Amino acid sequence: SSASLWGGRFAGGPSGALAALSKSTQFDWRLAEVDVAGSQAHARVLHQAGLLDDAELAGMLDALDRLLTDVRSGAFGPREDDEDVHTALERGLMDRAGADLGGKLRAGRSRNDQIATLVRIYLREQTRVLAGGVLGVVDALVEQAAAHPGAPMPGRTHLQHAQPVLLAHHLLAHAWPLLRDVERWTDWDRRAAVSPYGSGALAGSSLGLDPAAVARDLGFDAPVANSIDGTASRDVVAEFAFVAAMTGVDLSRIAEDVILWATKEFGFVDLHDAYSTGSSIMPQKKNPDIAELARGKAGRLIGDLTGLMTTLKGLPLAYNRDLQEDKEPVFDQIDQLSVLLPAFAGMVATLTFRTERMAELAPQGFSLATDIAEWLVRQGVPFRVAHEVAGACVRACEERGIELWDLSEDDLAAISPHLTPEVREVLTVEGSLASRDAVGGTAPVRVAEQLEAARARAVEL
Ligand code: ARG
Repeated sequence: SSASLWGGRFAGGPSGALAALSKSTQFDWRLAEVDVAGSQAHARVLHQAGLLDDAELAGMLDALDRLLTDVRSGAFGPREDDEDVHTALERGLMDRAGADLGGKLRAGRSRNDQIATLVRIYLREQTRVLAGGVLGVVDALVEQAAAHPGAPMPGRTHLQHAQPVLLAHHLLAHAWPLLRDVERWTDWDRRAAVSPYGSGALAGSSLGLDPAAVARDLGFDAPVANSIDGTASRDVVAEFAFVAAMTGVDLSRIAEDVILWATKEFGFVDLHDAYSTGSSIMPQKKNPDIAELARGKAGRLIGDLTGLMTTLKGLPLAYNRDLQEDKEPVFDQIDQLSVLLPAFAGMVATLTFRTERMAELAPQGFSLATDIAEWLVRQGVPFRVAHEVAGACVRACEERGIELWDLSEDDLAAISPHLTPEVREVLTVEGSLASRDAVGGTAPVRVAEQLEAARARAVEL
């Protein structure tokens, strides 16, 4: 028997070249279980509408159960001539229910509403798994922050020393974007929780089937309001792809820090042996491969999003076969993030921070110059003047190859009469950190609060 679903008006089967091009089981088979779940829900609305009697429903559900068992065990799988997951499962149903009963299931649905629904179910399941993985990285960052409550480091802008910050503050700055990524998936879920099942090919179903019943059965909040939109739109898939790409970008920015920090020149961190690699030729090497793969995969995740958006652009309504190309990009994103997130969390959790070196570098590069200017402002000096005076301190130090705290009382007085000896009190990292005590700042008390807030947010999500 032909595996094709449209024998009637065709004189012969598809050419080998078309079949090879058309085939999608190599990637859509992962939807087999949710497809069977969709079929079970569909059988129930057919029964509700009087299109299957009680015995037929029981027989259909039994056949679908057996099919599901065989899909799970691997006893049933796609054949070379099955076009897609739906075609293969229809064949499997026919084998188990017989053609008379099995042939009744297709009434009132189309692969167009089926696939649009299944992708949503699958992505909704996957976001829960991925969110867990992202929260694993958040947890590693938060616990590293908690383990280093008072450790300072050089805060940078333009990669140049800017102002001292707490290491914990910097680590939490990487945690918040990841928390927002998880939040994005949660928000996304409201839009994804709408079922296209019952949209048919595009125009809806004429058989008295209840799309709301199928939607409820499959864990959706509601059916789509428009059957054309239900079968033709993929913005929900694209939005998933954006969050996956953004997560990749957020991980990549952490990765870039780790890669720099692990260099001899920075010397801020040591990577754990279990989360770094060696070189086949250079015995001394210890490489940050996990971070590099994260950075590399961010490009790939963005590519997946870009490819999908480009596929959608310019498609007329309603379903077009181009839409079959929506799946591989997001499946690839899921597969990449699934292997990346656990490794990345492990890498972060096992970093050893060289806090002494970070503390030593924190005040260097004249990173306390802003503290001089702000001290002057507190003495009533206009900031424009204060900025000039602090700049003059930096210039004096640069000329003599010394640091700000090496300036003597006489040096300071010579630069400006406003610079009384008390200014030296702010010329310490501790003083500088403690002074930035507004909400969101790097003062130890604020960072301790922030850490609890991040922990609480992670638990909520
Ligand atoms: N495999 C297709 C997809 O992934 C669904 C089949 C719809 N095919 C069709 N000729 N209408 O989008």
